[in-house]
Amino acid sequence: MAIIAVYNIKGGVGKTATSVNLAYLSAESGKRTLLCDMDPQGSASYYFRIKPPKKFSAEKLLKGGKGIAKNIRGTDYPDLDLLPADFTYRNLDLALDDFKKSTQRISKILRPLTREYDHIFLDCPPNITLLSENIFNAADLLLIPFIPTTLSLLSFEQLLSFFKKSNIDRKKLYLFFSMVERRKRMHLDMMQRFAGRKRVLRQPIPFLADVEKMGIHRKPVLEIAPSSAAARSYRLLWREVKKAINKTGRKR
Ligand SMILES: Nc1ncnc2c1ncn2[C@@H]1O[C@H](COP(=O)(O)OP(=O)(O)OP(=O)(O)O)[C@@H](O)[C@H]1O
Ligand SMILES: [Mg+2]
Repeated sequence: MAIIAVYNIKGGVGKTATSVNLAYLSAESGKRTLLCDMDPQGSASYYFRIKPPKKFSAEKLLKGGKGIAKNIRGTDYPDLDLLPADFTYRNLDLALDDFKKSTQRISKILRPLTREYDHIFLDCPPNITLLSENIFNAADLLLIPFIPTTLSLLSFEQLLSFFKKSNIDRKKLYLFFSMVERRKRMHLDMMQRFAGRKRVLRQPIPFLADVEKMGIHRKPVLEIAPSSAAARSYRLLWREVKKAINKTGRKR
């Protein structure tokens, strides 16, 4: 069993595209999979054509228990369920205040679901807040899509020092290169600097138009273009992530 959070402090780096495609691959391999859309933008829910139920809210989420199970929806794909994000999630941080600024609330809420699912993916919003800290504690594996530029490096170093300060296990962190453009010198240079480091996955996800088409078709790229370079890259990335899960996931 493993909780896999796809996270970056930066926006627009491919978090949602990764969550959607890896959750799809997990389910395809027969693992009972839940994707929790944690972002009030609701992009992951959008890709699966799922709207949040009317009575669902940030407060309901934080309350936990049966209220969550009631709001989980099946997708069009076997073994893949989704907990949609509600727009009230924009207040999740404020709502967490009511739980004495707990950094373990999300972990607690997800605990009963770990009995129902083999893999729980969290598609995270781009920032570093009390909610992020909750997610860092809840996750067994924190997958960071990293566009190979100097600014991304800066934000990654900020994250590392935050982990150190907050006593969170840095062994959970796995980084992979996202939206890679091989014609860009900086991308190649940065990738070279990181290559071979511990917890840097080898398989990059290139910048490819097929991934953008997910927004038009509202489906994982593995459904739209199963034999494309994009689909192939996600499959190879998933293979590496699975190995990482075997190292850091929990036994039942
Ligand atoms: N590998 C890729 N190649 C080309 N376009 C991509 C790729 N990955 C993501 N995109 C596109 O880039 C945009 C941002 O991607 P995505 O929504 O996955 O990022 P995000 O990190 O989740 O963003 P946010 O921080 O807003 O949640 C989307 O339009 C998406 O279709
Ligand atoms: Mg997103």
